[in-house]
Amino acid sequence: MMQLYNMPSTREIFLNKNENPFDTPPALKEEIRKSLSSLRLNHYPDPDAKALKAALSEYTGFPAERIVVGNGGDEILFLLFAALIREGDRVLTLSPCFSEYNHLCKLFRAEQVKVPVVVNGKRFSFSEEAVLDVLREASPRLVLLDSPHNPTGMLLRSDFLLKVIEHSPGICLIDEAYAEFSRTSILESIKGDLPREVAVLRTMSKAWGLAGMRVGYAMCGKHVAQVLNETRSPFNVNVMSQDIAKLMLSYREWMEGRVYAISYIRDRFVEEVNRIPGWQAFESTSNFVAVRAPLQRQQLEEFLLQQGIHVKFISVPWEGTWMRVTVGKENEMQLLISAFSDLTQQAEGFPSSRVTV
Ligand SMILES: Cc1ncc(COP(=O)(O)O)c(C=O)c1O
Repeated sequence: MMQLYNMPSTREIFLNKNENPFDTPPALKEEIRKSLSSLRLNHYPDPDAKALKAALSEYTGFPAERIVVGNGGDEILFLLFAALIREGDRVLTLSPCFSEYNHLCKLFRAEQVKVPVVVNGKRFSFSEEAVLDVLREASPRLVLLDSPHNPTGMLLRSDFLLKVIEHSPGICLIDEAYAEFSRTSILESIKGDLPREVAVLRTMSKAWGLAGMRVGYAMCGKHVAQVLNETRSPFNVNVMSQDIAKLMLSYREWMEGRVYAISYIRDRFVEEVNRIPGWQAFESTSNFVAVRAPLQRQQLEEFLLQQGIHVKFISVPWEGTWMRVTVGKENEMQLLISAFSDLTQQAEGFPSSRVTV
């Protein structure tokens, strides 16, 4: 079986990390090239990332002084744990959830209180009441809710998130890493100032296509901003990342065009997968799609790798084999759909390789 992994593939298609499949605009690359030649690399970066925060403030409409920039959204999550979480503290998440939430809970020995997401026909759901019960009864130190939700692509209702914010006894982080795709934000529903203990996380890695630069940011209530700024190292975002992210923010039309294209490709992909007998792809508000396959995981994984296609298989307590597929370029999605169809046809001849869903 290992041989399959080693078989040469003519191309690799990465649909496993929710990256933007479109390369940085050439005009921006040229600007970056020019800007790099004038960077003074012997100096530390601006510890307050003033120019980048000003550009982020203009983009989001959120005050620059309460934006905290990190080495990716991941760093901001890490900082929150480092500042707040002591062994045994409770952290509320949905389950499944973004893998980093699980990792950080383990690393900081937190008790992760998980509210299960379930599959209901064509959609995902979870008990909003159960979340509110956990807030009342388990008093979590930290609430981590992402909307759109990774890995399902579902959007959490704003009314519900407002209730969570209202009843949360500790810090509440609403993770909007994919907000540009859902075109909604909890910030639109919050009247007045963001409460002290709340933060909204965003990233330049997804819609903006800068995953390699590692720039994430949190729009924070007063207390969270203070906690994050006290905890982070002063030069946490390097000089090139600050500069390139700031330049990128002036390419908003490019970003919106790519979001439109990705959303269009995503919806076609969902339709086409749903036409393959036994397969189910779920509507998504993000740049990835949850897919249920009627085949054994090992067989599917090997087949896709043989074709050079990487998707993320997810372990969930739901029936069937599940994966999260990042939306790539049209031709990449077509190759994936063909692989699904081919394998399904092959499996017709080997009924034991099918799983019932
Ligand atoms: C839900 C969610 N939050 C945060 C992140 C962090 O992104 P980054 O560290 O690239 O900014 C990701 C990345 O996959 C994510 O899926």
